[in-house]
Amino acid sequence: KEISRFQHTLLEWYKKNRRQLPWRQTLMEGQPNPYHIWVSETMLQQTRVTNVIGYYKKWLQTFPDIPSLAASSLERVNEIWAGLGYYRRAKLLHEGAQTIMSRFDGKVPEDIKVLQSIPGIGPYTSAAIASIAFNKPYAVCDGNVFRVLSRLFSIDLDISSTDNQSLFRSLAQFLMFKEMAADYNQAMMELGATVCTPKSFDCNHCPVQRWCNSFQIANEHQVPLSDIV
Ligand code: ADE
Repeated sequence: KEISRFQHTLLEWYKKNRRQLPWRQTLMEGQPNPYHIWVSETMLQQTRVTNVIGYYKKWLQTFPDIPSLAASSLERVNEIWAGLGYYRRAKLLHEGAQTIMSRFDGKVPEDIKVLQSIPGIGPYTSAAIASIAFNKPYAVCDGNVFRVLSRLFSIDLDISSTDNQSLFRSLAQFLMFKEMAADYNQAMMELGATVCTPKSFDCNHCPVQRWCNSFQIANEHQVPLSDIV
């Protein structure tokens, strides 16, 4: 099937081209550490990968696990977060850690609905934790993924509109390689972050060029309509 070829081609590309990022070598008993994924994805929602790396390392040195974060003062949490902005996110990570201690015995739950009951964990972060840490079949959609999808299908809509985003979410769920959720989701984000970028995109090095409608009709500059997510 054509979708299966697309999925395998994207995954092969990701295996060869993935950047070595600290949260990608976070193994705990052979599985990605869900706390590490939670922290990194929370930081990545607002800040570029290169800027996140230093904050992420400092955070884990200070709060290596959920118990240490839960036991910290909010002042210390804000001090370590300082410079990242959106301090509400730091406060919610702190509250989330306390919730995981009191309600889930210090273990990050695997169920997406249960994850969403934790302070600070919304649709994006819950899908990222469930898929990247636990390989559950939820598509993760950030601005990168919306842009990649808008070009693949040449849909010239504004990806900052929530109505349009629900269309792209359906497409993302339809296209995703469910058995390989962790790698597939990261591959889509990585493609958007490194190749299918807003302006200086590099179609000549795109692994899925042959499936891309925007490449075929050369309208990458016009799609998506607006890139501010
Ligand atoms: N942006 C947000 N999450 C990401 C991830 N896991 N990999 C690459 N870019 C990202």
